Amino acid sequence: MKTFKSVAKEMEIVTHDVLIFGTGLAGLRAACEIARKMDDSASIGLVSKVQIQRPHSVCAEGGSAAVLREDDGDNLDLHAWDTVKGADFLADQDVIYRFVETAPKELMLLEHWGMPWSRREDGRIMQRPFGGHSYPRATMAADKTGFFEVQTLYDNLMQYKNFSRHEEFFATSIIAEDGKFCGLAGIDLPTGKFKVLRAKAMLIASGGLGTLYGFTTYSQTVSGDGHALAYRAGLNIEDPEFLQFHPTGLVPSGILMTEACRGEGGYLRNSLGERFMERYAPEKMELGPRDLVSRSEMTEIIEGRGFEEPSGLDYVHLDLTHLGADRINKALPLIREVCMKFIGLDPILEPIPVRAVAHYSMGGVEADINGATKMDGVWAAGEVAAHSLHGANRLGSNSTTECLVYGGITGEEIVKYLKTDPDLSELPMDQVDQEINRLYVDYLQKNGKENFYEIKDELRALMDQHAGVYRTGESLKEGLDKIMVLKDRFKDIYVTDRNYVYNTNLMNALETENLLDLAEVLVTAALTREESRGAHARTDFPVRDDDNWLKHTLASYSDKGPKLDYKPVTITKWKPVERTY
Ligand code: FUM
Repeated sequence: MKTFKSVAKEMEIVTHDVLIFGTGLAGLRAACEIARKMDDSASIGLVSKVQIQRPHSVCAEGGSAAVLREDDGDNLDLHAWDTVKGADFLADQDVIYRFVETAPKELMLLEHWGMPWSRREDGRIMQRPFGGHSYPRATMAADKTGFFEVQTLYDNLMQYKNFSRHEEFFATSIIAEDGKFCGLAGIDLPTGKFKVLRAKAMLIASGGLGTLYGFTTYSQTVSGDGHALAYRAGLNIEDPEFLQFHPTGLVPSGILMTEACRGEGGYLRNSLGERFMERYAPEKMELGPRDLVSRSEMTEIIEGRGFEEPSGLDYVHLDLTHLGADRINKALPLIREVCMKFIGLDPILEPIPVRAVAHYSMGGVEADINGATKMDGVWAAGEVAAHSLHGANRLGSNSTTECLVYGGITGEEIVKYLKTDPDLSELPMDQVDQEINRLYVDYLQKNGKENFYEIKDELRALMDQHAGVYRTGESLKEGLDKIMVLKDRFKDIYVTDRNYVYNTNLMNALETENLLDLAEVLVTAALTREESRGAHARTDFPVRDDDNWLKHTLASYSDKGPKLDYKPVTITKWKPVERTY
């Protein structure tokens, strides 16, 4: 067993100009921007818990929204309005406008960098309908859009020489002093060594927190690490109660059955064979916004018109059988492959079992319209960030675009900052020592009675049960009590693997701690918000309450649990009105 002294002696300290914490779409886009604007003169450290080309962004399927057809009826105002309405008026409208204006340029940039967009017969880039959008503006590469976007950005980045890779690096804390960023500490998984990455600036682009739920579309690597580190370092988590449930998670695994299935013309049917969306969104039908479609599905299931599943994951049908083999094979090849491989079902011939599934966090680390956080030298982009763009409910296909738009914006902001030649902050060695102690003396030697994998399973099950599509104060309170019991039990866990090389057991324990903190934040904020808005549907407060709740939640860390504060929503053009589809 190594001692504190031996770990400290072997510790590696690496210095860059800028760190990109997370190499999904937002991180890679920012890295490209910094690399090209700094002419190889800034050193960029790319930090990933996995390999750089394996972020969860590769799982994005359906498309990226942008206005590309002003000659055919689409326009920026329409995209902005759809996003405002989709957000149930909780989004900041100045941010939305900046987003919709920048989006077409970002998609064209990718086009120039070699993105293999799907094409129409006439050679123009293909776009398709998506939920809550009034024009078919989801720009696509079949149903593998995220995969190709990641590859395109990565290929583009390869022409530069000024970046280093910190792959399989598990970040454990943000080191800051007097509100200024100093470094990112963590474990180099292949060697088990403690490592501190210093830089003048950092972009947090670490993705979502979706494994907080049991039934989820997320990869198992997505455990809210960036959220949790930022929260503990003193940054606010904004609007955490707004967790998006995507209407079509494959039963029983939760794998995403892209909204593009409905964009291509797929139907949702209950056990009576009815296209039940007729009751809830007569105009938009299956292409209503996700919050509404997910609630409608759950209502069908609760009222007994779903299909029973032995595990309790009762479902409805996503029916593509009328689309025909040609369309499915061309536009939805991944969906067909996944259905055949995972449940032995061919969607050309049979309907797919689906139900609402945890998919996206509208909330995240509070950041302004330029992506700057409240910590000097730190920006945030992509799903981990809350620029107040998505409000209470994100529209499908606005997320990959947001990663590109805000990767570009934050990259540019970081370039401006680096060009002011800021000082590199001193590393507060007391914090470094504390972190070594926490990881290698405390955690690695934990010898309690509790199995943290069981705690994690229980946490995810209780989030499904108590903080799902429909919520009540009573159930959220019960959920919060259970989280507090789990947090207490977590103090007495054991870590079985005492080795250093690729210790995933230790990493999983630290991830579980991150998830426990974030669950407490989410449920506390949800319990406090006594209204229904977007993805936060309280059956005990079923109505949107603009008089009292047209405001963003801000959750900050304290020893006693999250402290909640609020800030106003920026409304520039569209006053809240009733939201019907
Ligand atoms: O359904 C989908 O393809 C997901 C897209 C999104 O979350 O934006």
